[in-house]
Parts: sequence; C-alpha cells; structure tokens
Amino acid sequence: MIFAEAPSNIALIKYMGKGAGNQPLNPSLSLTLPNFRSRVEIHPQGAEDQYQDQWRPLEVPPWKSPSLSDKGVEKFLRHFGLLKKELGLPGHFQIRSGNNFPGDCGVASSAASFAALTLAAYRLSGKDLPLARVAELSRQGSGSSCRSVGPDWMLWDDTGAREWPHGAKTQHGSTNLRHELVLIDAQKKEVTSSEAHRRVLTSAQFPGRPERARNRLRAFEVAWGTGDWTTCRQVVWDEFQDMHALFSTSNPPFSYLTKPVIEFLALLQREYETHGDGPMVTLDAGPNVHLLYRADQSSIKDLILERWPHWTVLVGREKT
Ligand code: DP6
Repeated sequence: MIFAEAPSNIALIKYMGKGAGNQPLNPSLSLTLPNFRSRVEIHPQGAEDQYQDQWRPLEVPPWKSPSLSDKGVEKFLRHFGLLKKELGLPGHFQIRSGNNFPGDCGVASSAASFAALTLAAYRLSGKDLPLARVAELSRQGSGSSCRSVGPDWMLWDDTGAREWPHGAKTQHGSTNLRHELVLIDAQKKEVTSSEAHRRVLTSAQFPGRPERARNRLRAFEVAWGTGDWTTCRQVVWDEFQDMHALFSTSNPPFSYLTKPVIEFLALLQREYETHGDGPMVTLDAGPNVHLLYRADQSSIKDLILERWPHWTVLVGREKT
C-alpha cells in the first residue's frame, strides 16, 4: 500500500472562473491549512476486482470519510485514471480516502483530497518530477488542489503553480499566521465549486474580473512586502466580496451571504474600526468565515470570540 497526505488551503485571491482542464482565468494566492488534511491510500486490487479502480471510505481514526456523491466518486476516479496514464501506472487499484476534519464543514476538502491522490499516485510511480509538474497534474483533477502540493504560500496562474516568493519575507512578522474557520452553516453546499465557476461567467460583473484579481494580487504583494497589514486586510476583504457579488448576480443567482454571515461580518468590521486592527477575513464558496491572525493579535482574537461565543471554531493553522 502507498499513501500520501495533503493539507487544504485558503485562497486570499480567489480562483473563480475557469477554462478547459481547470485552467484559471485569473491568478490566485493561497495559504495552506496544515491542520485540515486528507489522506489517500492506494491498495493493490485483489484478483477478483482486477478490472476496475474502486473508491472506498477511509475510516481509521483520525481519518473520516467525506460523504461522496456518485458524481464525486466518479470525479475522483476519473482523476486517478488520468494520473495512471500520465505517470505510467499499469493495473487497477482500490483508493481509500478520508479527512481529519468534519466533512461538508466549509473547508474545501477537494483541494486536500485531490492533492493527496495526486501525491500518492506520484509516489507509486517512483518518478522524480518538479513541483510544478505535480501541481499541473493535480490541477487537472480539481483546480485549487494544485496549491496544496507545495509549501505554505502558493501562487497559481495560467503558467502554473509555484511557491509565492514573498511569503517568508515581510516586515511585520506576520509570516506565521494563525487560521480560524468560524462555522456558521455546516450544511452541504447546493452549488458545487465547479458549477460556481461556470455560473459566474453569466454575471454582468464578470467582464473585468480577471483584471480586478490581478490588480489585487499586485496590491497585496506590495502591501505584504512593506508590512502594510491594513491594505492587505482591505484587499482580501474586497476580493471575497467581489467573488460573492459574482455569485449573487449570476444566472441563476445564488448566495452564501446569509443573515448570520452578514451579521458576523458587520461585527468583524465594527471591531476592526474600534481597534484599528483585526484579522484578515475571507469566505470561500460557502457560508463560513475564515480569519487570519498575526501572532501579536491574540487579544483581538479573544475579544471577537467573546462577543460571538456560540459558533464552532476550527483552527486550520497554528502560529509556529
Ligand atoms: C471558491 O478547485 O473546488 O474555493 O477546479 O472545479 O474542482 P474545481 O474547483 P475548486 O474551486 C475552488 C474555488 C474557491 C476559490 C479558491 O480556492 O481559489
């Protein structure tokens, strides 16, 4: 048996809108979440099962299997088929996968699970490939997973995924960010990310979106490099609002900005104005709020949670 694990990641500049093979229409930037992990095991098949690959849940603590739909299983096995072809892996296998975080809880588990599947197949192949090639393989399974095969900060654009060179360099000591996910609604998403990528193309606000994302990436890089946290926070805030505005203006429209989410965002904004400081805030394609804190912001973190004690908070990344 061969296995691999991979972390999830949270995008600060979002991948939203894609072409064939999950090629992104704009660059994205993410930070990995080492506490939210997937594990994939590849088991050789018994003789009686030798004519097809199979997926099975991995239910060995701390791993718990996501409740994959038939379509989800098909997408996972289709990607494994592509990996076998690209990496020259003959035969048929049983794939077992699980996450160490609750399924359908607002963490993009597909990034972690497709990255883990790609890394496991790569390990099985015994090949020695550059990170960019492994990321390219993973991207074809699920776009955002290409940012989960590398180190902490990953940049992904139409030329591929690579380490963001500015991640470790900052003047405000915020390289070691703490990540918290505030779970507001853990229900399964009605619109999958893949469907969201298709639907945003129908929004009247989509033209100009790739350029807006590129400009924000540039603004974030400059602000990060000079230690300008206020601008970093604002750019990340504007970016998630932009993506969610595309959702609510697409055809048919959909939205994750539910009443409790809007109220929580308003609280975060009030706290920010009161203290002149606060976490970076972002939402993925779901009604849950991701917070990123610098090491010196622990008192602000405690204050926010005191005012909002009834949500479950999952820590995706500790500061080291
Ligand atoms: C909102 O990578 O899940 O999380 O390529 O269709 O599998 P597919 O989509 P996926 O999209 C994730 C979109 C996002 C933003 C992001 O992670 O950049």
